[in-house]
Amino acid sequence: MPAVSVCLSPLLANIHDFTGKIAVVVDVLRATTTIITAFEYGVKSILPVDSIEVCRDFQLQGYIGAAEREGKKVKGFELGNSPFDYFNPCCAGKKIVFTTTNGTRTISTIKKADRIIFGAFVNLDVVAGFLNSLKKNIVIVCAGWEGEVNLEDTLFAGTLISKLRSSFLREGDAAVLAYNLYKQSGEDLLGFLEESTHVNRLKKLGLQKDINFCLELNKYEIIPELIDGEIIPVENIRNAII
Ligand code: MLT
Repeated sequence: MPAVSVCLSPLLANIHDFTGKIAVVVDVLRATTTIITAFEYGVKSILPVDSIEVCRDFQLQGYIGAAEREGKKVKGFELGNSPFDYFNPCCAGKKIVFTTTNGTRTISTIKKADRIIFGAFVNLDVVAGFLNSLKKNIVIVCAGWEGEVNLEDTLFAGTLISKLRSSFLREGDAAVLAYNLYKQSGEDLLGFLEESTHVNRLKKLGLQKDINFCLELNKYEIIPELIDGEIIPVENIRNAII
């Protein structure tokens, strides 16, 4: 029987065995929501990198540069980490190089996974359908904030677990904890997340609009996947879901 486990922070990734598993990277606020949205608006591929310096190098090679630190767009790059930055015809068909405080850095902590895909509330059902069809072991990897566990990614992990068929075992207390958090949450996600540190950080930056957007359910039928170091959308998603 396949199992689902949860890695609550990238700092815990080294104690997870990803071999042969599907890793689902989640950074609800905002990196994975933004990646999904970028593909909806026609971006060709996204190259995730860990540092501003490497991001700049690829920008000089012709990629569109997108960089965020501490919730803010980094000077000198065309784009930041707001999903609204990608509602932009200039990005269609283009290759983007992307670095964010936690989301993109989480990717490099995942070793030996069979596949690495990206989830957020905006693509929740399609990700759940895909995982239910694949019937493989899953690790949901939460980006958190600088090593700390965060509420929104843990809540997403629990919500995704609630959508998996009962044939999936919940492996480890982190999966039980995330699922129990989901059971407490109810429909008012924003209200439930009111004490989240990053919600409050984004609010102080005047980004309430981004928070609302990132908590919308099932806006898009897109699943980004990391292939040979670049993120592209899974093709023919509906055929991949049984
Ligand atoms: C991150 O990668 O830490 C976030 O996506 C931060 C943000 O909201 O820009």
